[in-house]
Formats: sequence, C-alpha cells, structure tokens
Amino acid sequence: MLMLALESTCDETAAAVIARDRRILSNVVSTQETLHARFGGVVPEIASRAHVERILPVIDEALRQANATLDDLAVIAVATEPGLVGSLLVGLTAAKSLAWSLGIPLIAVNHLEAHIYACQLAAKENVFPCIGLVISGGHTNLYDCAHACEFALLGTTIDDAAGEAFDKAAQILGLGYPGGPQIEQAARTGNATAVKFPRTFLHEDRLEFSFSGLKTSILYEANGIPGSRTQPPPLTPERIADLAASFQAAVVDVVVSKCRQAMEQTGRRRLCVGGGVAANRSLRDELAKMTTAIDAELLIAPWSYCTDNAAMSALGWEHFERGNFAELDLDVTPGLVRMR
Ligand code: KG4
Ligand code: ZN
Repeated sequence: MLMLALESTCDETAAAVIARDRRILSNVVSTQETLHARFGGVVPEIASRAHVERILPVIDEALRQANATLDDLAVIAVATEPGLVGSLLVGLTAAKSLAWSLGIPLIAVNHLEAHIYACQLAAKENVFPCIGLVISGGHTNLYDCAHACEFALLGTTIDDAAGEAFDKAAQILGLGYPGGPQIEQAARTGNATAVKFPRTFLHEDRLEFSFSGLKTSILYEANGIPGSRTQPPPLTPERIADLAASFQAAVVDVVVSKCRQAMEQTGRRRLCVGGGVAANRSLRDELAKMTTAIDAELLIAPWSYCTDNAAMSALGWEHFERGNFAELDLDVTPGLVRMR
C-alpha cells in the first residue's frame, strides 16, 4: 500500500511516495529559494504561481523515482496547515483531484506536526510520547506530543520565529539570505560573549519565545542607537563575527532553556526537534548537552527531512490507521495553530 504525500505550505513544492511501513520510496523537493532570494523573503504570490507550475512535474518525478504509478496509490496525504493560503490551495487542489479521480481516501496533515514526525523516520523505536520543538523560518513552537496524532501546543513565539530572527540579523550584518547558515558561518570565528544580547523570558516559567527585542538590539549594535551621538564600532569582519556569535548564543540559550522547562513541566523524557534551524550546529550541541544533563533523549530530524519536504507527511499513515480521513470539502487553515 502506497501513500502519495504533497507539500506546498510555503516555498517548497514537494511530493513523496511512502510505504505503509513508513519507508520513503521517493522524496522530491523543488525549492523556490532562487525566486525569492532577491526580495529577502518569500513573496506569497510568486510562491503560489511557482507551485502551480511545479506540482504536477514534482508528483510525476516522485512516482517515477518510487517506480510506482497512480494505480499503486492507496491514499493521498496533503499538508493543509499552517502556511501561505495561495500555496496551500495548490497542494490541496492537486490532492483532492487525485483522491477523487482515483477513488481513494484523502488525509490532511498539519505541517508543523509533520516536522516533528520527521524524527520518527530515522528512529528505530516509537518516538512518542515526547516534547516536540519546531524551529524554522516561520515557527518556534513547543508541543506536548502524547501520540503521533495528539499534539498539544505548549507555547510559541509572540513575535518573530527563530529562523526569521536569524534571517533579519544576517540582513542587518550585510550577510546573505537565508540568514541562518550565514550567521552560523560568521559566528565560527567570533566571540559569543562579546555582546550581551537580551534573552527574553529566560527566567520565566512560561513556554513562550520573543525574538523582536533581540533583533532591535543587534540593529542598534550594528548601526548605532537612533539619535545617539555615539558611533558604533565599524562593521569589520571581526565585529560581524562577534555580533553573529553573540546573537546565535542568545537564541540558543533561550531555545535550550525553554525545551528543558517543557520537559521538566510535563515530565516527558524525550525531545524531538524539526525545522530548518535544527541544522544549527551550536543549537544541536547545546540541546545534546542539556538532554544528557537531565538524563533525557534527544532526536533531531535527519537533515534531508529538516527543511520542508513531503516525506515527513508519513504522519498521514498514523491518521490513516486511526481512520482520520478528510472529506472533499476539506479546506486549508493558513493561520497559526490554535492553543489546544
Ligand atoms: O524549515 P525551513 O526550511 O523553512 C520554513 O521556515 O518552513 O527553515 C528555514 C529557516 C530559515 O530562517 C533559515 O535561516 C533557518 O531555517 N536556518 C538556520 C540554519 N539553516 C537554516 N538557522 C540557523 N542556523 C542554520 N544553520
Ligand atoms: Zn516547515
């Protein structure tokens, strides 16, 4: 039995063919990064138009790589939330059309839950129950995951997402987009204690994040405080390295600390991390140290399943097994997930 999973929530058009035992038979991702790079962020209208052009070739390629045909499909899964409305609609329309014409069931997948489920794909054992962290360009969410189909949101960011903060910091420092890898690279030669950046909510029990103060701080450190007569130090490569390292340390500190608090508050012994920022070496190292210190387990999604992809929608099989099928009037839910 094969599932075709579709993903078009943001700026990646993706399709995967997944066997019922969760083997990924193909995982095709067509990234739109070059279309959006010159704008410094994703332009929704460009994204949805590119999805329209790419979705059918991407599906064809996923079937070809899996050595499968449409007739081999038993179910279609599609990411319907959250994301850009126009982008989501392209994937959903393709999924509905296929499900209807093939006469097979349709399953809705939450993209953020799928990011956490990506950890399951490389694990030998069941990773649930766990605490889930999705840390990407659009989201910084902590979940209490009792089961693959039962996610309760514990906290999120009240302003920018962590990846968005990395992207904006990189822009301020004159580095490229996407900013996370650039900041990480620049930080390698920098001193992480050169500048003491704010760590919002660090000592509070609430499991929320805020990165906008940090963004303003790095702006002032780089360009000076508006109206002040004091000039900031020039942005030499050394200064950029110090600012990048100090900024990265501030983000890592709060994220690691909130994950620790989430585990302590819920009693969960396992942390599953997904999303593009999970590629950050310093974050991975500090999460590993923290989980070792509290005798817990850390799972980070394999790199190819960290950034947006359809393979992680293997989560659809869990819904299939629970009978969580969608009707053909299924709609997209662009906004952030509700607190449950
Ligand atoms: O999950 P993702 O590919 O896309 C979504 O946001 O859905 O995440 C992209 C984000 C970008 O903000 C990028 O700057 C960040 O992940 N990122 C990183 C690193 N690699 C990617 N942030 C910090 N360090 C990295 N090495
Ligand atoms: Zn994502």
